[in-house]
Amino acid sequence: MDRELVVRKTADFVRQKLGGEGTGHDMWHAQRVHETAVSIAKGEKGADLYVVQLASLLHDIADHKFTKDDKAGQRMAEAFLKKQGVDDKTVAHVSYIINNISFSGAAEKPKLKTKEAMIVQDADRLDAMGAIGIARAFAYGGYKGRTLHNPVKPSDYGSFADYKKANALDATTINHFYEKLLLLKGKMNTETGRKIAADRHTFMEDYLDQFYAEWDGRK
Ligand code: ADP
Ligand code: NI
Repeated sequence: MDRELVVRKTADFVRQKLGGEGTGHDMWHAQRVHETAVSIAKGEKGADLYVVQLASLLHDIADHKFTKDDKAGQRMAEAFLKKQGVDDKTVAHVSYIINNISFSGAAEKPKLKTKEAMIVQDADRLDAMGAIGIARAFAYGGYKGRTLHNPVKPSDYGSFADYKKANALDATTINHFYEKLLLLKGKMNTETGRKIAADRHTFMEDYLDQFYAEWDGRK
C-alpha cells in the first residue's frame, strides 16, 4: 500500500468530516497539527513519520466535546484506516494516540507510551498557543458566550487560586490563558516541541501585556 496515497486520502477524509466548523476544531486545526507534528518528528530521532502523519490528521475526527461518545473518533479512524488496507499494528498505534493525547483527561492518564504519541500531543498543544492559540481561545469564548476579560487582575490577589475563587462566576477568555495556555510550555514532551513552545509562550505574554495596557488606556 502506497503510504503517501494513504496520507493524502486521510487528509481528504478529515477535510470532508470536519469541514470548517467555527470553534477551532475544524479541518484546519487537523491540518496545522499535521504540519507541526511532521516538523517535530523531523527534529526527533527515530519517530515513525507514517504513524505521526495519520494520527495527527485523525486525532480530533470526532471531538468528545461535540459528540457524547468518547470512543467515536477512535472507531471512525480505525474503520477508515482498515478500509485503506493499513496494517493492524499501525492502526492500533494510531488508535492509541487518538485515545490518549487529549489535554482534558491528562491529569488521570499515565505518561504516553510512544514517541509518536508524544509528538502528536506536542503538536496539538502547540496549536493552543501563540497567535493561533489566542485566536482559537477567543473563538471558543465567543461560541460559549463568554466575556473577553474582567478587569480584576490575577495579580491583585495573593495567588491565581484566590483570584479564581473570587471570580468563580466570571469565566472569561483571559482566564483561560492562566488556566491552560500559559501552562502548556511546561508540558511539552519533546525537545523540538519545547523550542517552538518557548517562542509561542513569549508571544502570548507580550500579547497579554499589550491587552492589559490597551484595556487601561496606557497604550
Ligand atoms: P484540544 O484541541 O487539545 O483537544 P480543547 O478541545 O481543550 O483542545 O480546546 C480546543 C481549543 O479551544 C483550544 O485552543 C483551547 O485553548 C480552546 N478552549 C478550550 N476551553 C476554553 C475556554 N474555556 N476558553 C477559551 N478557549 C478554550
Ligand atoms: Ni486537537
